[in-house]
Parts: sequence; C-alpha cells; structure tokens
Amino acid sequence: MPPRVLPAVRMLPHISREDIGMTGSTAKIELGGDAHEFKVRKGSVGPDVIDIGALYKDTGMFTYDPGFTSTASCESKITYIDGDEGVLLHRGYPIDQLAEHGDFLEVCYLLLYGDLPTKAQKEDFDFRVTRHTMVHEQMSKFFSGFRRDAHPMAVMCGVVGALSAFYHDSTDISDPHQRMVASIRLIAKMPTIAAMAYKYHIGQPFVYPKNELNYAANFLHMCFAVPCEDYKVNPVLARAMERIFILHADHEQNASTSTVRIAGSSGANPFACIAAGIACLWGPAHGGANEAALAMLAEIGSVDKIPEFIAKVKDKNSQVRLMGFGHRVYKNYDPRAKIMQQMCHKVLKETGHANDPLLPIALELEKIALNDPYFIERKLYPNVDFYSGITLKAMGFPTSMFTVLFAVARTVGWISQWSEMIQDPQQKIGRPRQLFSGATTRDYVDISKRK
Ligand code: CMC
Repeated sequence: MPPRVLPAVRMLPHISREDIGMTGSTAKIELGGDAHEFKVRKGSVGPDVIDIGALYKDTGMFTYDPGFTSTASCESKITYIDGDEGVLLHRGYPIDQLAEHGDFLEVCYLLLYGDLPTKAQKEDFDFRVTRHTMVHEQMSKFFSGFRRDAHPMAVMCGVVGALSAFYHDSTDISDPHQRMVASIRLIAKMPTIAAMAYKYHIGQPFVYPKNELNYAANFLHMCFAVPCEDYKVNPVLARAMERIFILHADHEQNASTSTVRIAGSSGANPFACIAAGIACLWGPAHGGANEAALAMLAEIGSVDKIPEFIAKVKDKNSQVRLMGFGHRVYKNYDPRAKIMQQMCHKVLKETGHANDPLLPIALELEKIALNDPYFIERKLYPNVDFYSGITLKAMGFPTSMFTVLFAVARTVGWISQWSEMIQDPQQKIGRPRQLFSGATTRDYVDISKRK
C-alpha cells in the first residue's frame, strides 16, 4: 500500500495543542477513527516538539513540510534563536554580548566545546589554530587550474573539498582526536584559502599567514598586503572584521548547516561536508544576500527612485524582493542587523566612505520598509545582510568576496554542528521521504511505437 500523507500534520501551524489532543507529554492524532499517541519532547527553551519518528511505522503516513518550516531535524545544544523576540544565543550567551566583548576565536571555542575558555584554554586554542593556518604548499598550484574570472565561491567549493585529498590523517570520523584536528584545521585554513581565492581573482601573489596577528587582522593582511611594501592592518577595521565573523559564526539549523549535517550523516569526511555547506551558502536566498542587497542599492541608484522600487517589490508579478529583508526565523529585527548597522557607520567613517551614495539609499529604504503595511504585515525586518554589504565594500572587498567572508565565519558553526551530530546517539542518515505525484507503473514502449 503506498503511504498516504497525513493531512492533520500538514495543518499543524494552524491548530492548537488541544486540537491534536496534546496533553502533558503526549500528542494524540486521530486518523480514520484510530488514535495514535506520540511523545512530546521539551527543550530547555523554545517550542516543544512532537516526536513523530514512529509515525510511518504506526500509520503508514508521512508528514509533508516543504522547507521544513515546522520540522525540527535534530536535537542541538549549540545555538538558540527566538525569531519573534529577535534573540540569538550561542551556548546561552547573547550575540550582542559576544560581539561587544568577545573575540572570534573565543566564540569558536564556545561553539565547539560548549563553554567560554579559561585564560589557559584560550591561549592553547589560539596557539593550535594559529599553528594550522598555512595550507599544504601544493594546494597553491590548485588555484591556477581555475579561470582568473571564476567567482571566488566557485574556487572555495573546489579548494575546500580538496582539503580531504591533502589531510588524510584527519578524515577518520570515528576518532575524536582526528575530528578535533579536522575542526581546528578548517577554522585555521579557511581564511588562508579565502584570501588566496581573492588574490588569485585580482592577479596578485598569495600572502602567507602571519602568526603574530590575530585571526581577523591576519585575514585582512593576507587579503590586502603585497610583497613590495609594508602593510599595517587598521585596528578599527580588524575589530570590525572580528565582529562580522562573530555575527556570522553560527545560526542554528539554517540551509547550509542542514546541508553540512545531511552530508555528514552519510559518514562523509568533514572537509567534504564543509564544501557542501559552502555550495549551499552561495545561493542569493542565503549567504549571497549581502551581495544581492548591495547590487539592489546600486540598481535603485538614488533616494527618489525608492518608491518606484518598493512598488515593484509589492507587485506579485514582478518576483522582485527587497534583498537583506525578511528571514525564515526572525519575525522581528534580526539582532545581528542592529550591531551591523552601528558597525557600518564606524567603518564608513574610518575609511572615509561616510559619503557613500548607497548609505542614504539604505537608510531611507529601511525607514520606508519599516513603516509600510506590506512589510509590517509580513513581519519583514532588515536582516544581517542589509548593512554588511556596504560595510565590506568600504573595507575594500569586492562584492564577489562577500559570501566568501560569510563562509570563513560560518565554518566554526558548521563544524560544531557536524561534530555534535557525529556524537549524537540518535543520529541516522538524513533521508527525507516525499509525496509522489508522478506517473504510476506503466509498460516500456519501444521507440518505434512511441507517439
Ligand atoms: N521582500 C519582499 N517580500 C518578501 C521578502 C522580501 N525580502 N521576503 C519575504 N517576502 C514576502 C513573500 O513574498 C511572501 O508574501 P506573500 O505572503 O504575500 O506571498 C511573504 O513575505 C513570506 O515569504 P516567504 O518566502 O514564505 O518567507 P520565507 O521565510 O520562506 O523566506 C527569505 C525567507 C530569507 C528567503 C526571504 O525573506 C527572502 O528571500 N529575503 C531576501 C533574501 C535575504 O535577504 N536573505 C538573507 C537571509 S539572512 C542571512 C542568512 O541567514 O543566510
């Protein structure tokens, strides 16, 4: 018997706990007169989940939830988001406190190990990451296989995937030590590979990492130094880079993180899994949004053209979206966007771009959108990407590098979530089912007889 799709669960967002007979720690679903009980699991905070793992076995039905809008795919202790309140916590710590007081490697330690490091732990972690920043020298040859005009994200997908061909001694996922070495290697080498992708793109020689610099300053140095002269990293920009990395470090079960988890669920090695995450991040609805937001501001061109653009966004036939606005989870101001907006002003002032013509367009667009019923009704607020494009542009990065920077920052989130998944006793290969609506069985027809 082909499985039927469970209509009651499809309607889940519109029905109350009582409607589905949810009492205490169980939820009852009635199907064709038969009652089925499912365990309700409580998290430490956030919505309860109905554990429907046995649904198919008990009822012969699947649930239907495109985009997983009502589906928890795993249990996690790393990041918590309350989208209605605009809250983002990493291991319990609010993102604004981490961005204000922490440094990026401290946040990496927190995400990976579950707690903020002591002074000794921090020194040891910094040392381990710093000693892994170089890449195998042969990897530099790899770059020349790409066209100069290749998008740096295309290069990142290829080169990061290739890490598994260079670091065989950290691909045994059953060995906790190898898993940790792979995690450190990925966090440490990602800025080096990203800077190499950038240098290759602009035709400049690669710049080796400098161990005396911190993570963010070293990255800026590898991107902007040239061998023929000294380059001093601007501390205001290094701090801004650090904060941008912190803001993007993890974001719960988003598309690229879920991609990493699914890829890893088959037992694939961590380097291959992170390459899969990079591929997913590249899309304009995810990590590519800051590039798209900047392109949108440039396309609008001037403040007086904003009403015309907003009219296009609201036109159902136009497919135009306000890039850098809206979020699957945040139905309130993205807490990262607030920090990014403040940082944007600081960076523009420091770099002498305070008169960037895109800034007044962004500010006016934000003001109009925050007061327009179309955006209010749909709970569309600026997300982190709305201001990150202008900030990164002022720091000297071309738009093609924006998503690459996101990938550098998110690597720690991906690898922490991957590591948590590997250690989860409930972990199974990710294998969703489907509502099949194609042709049913039919006989093969010889090509001479086909119409
Ligand atoms: N501009 C205009 N209308 C929008 C937008 C937008 N940016 N986002 C959503 N809507 C409308 C959409 O047309 C729909 O309207 P209606 O109900 O009349 O059909 C309603 O809001 C709900 O949209 P949805 O597509 O069902 O919402 P979603 O949760 O699936 O989409 C999103 C989330 C981020 C893909 C979407 O808001 C979007 O495309 N935003 C622009 C791209 C962007 O900025 N992405 C970065 C996300 S933050 C960084 C990251 O985490 O990667």
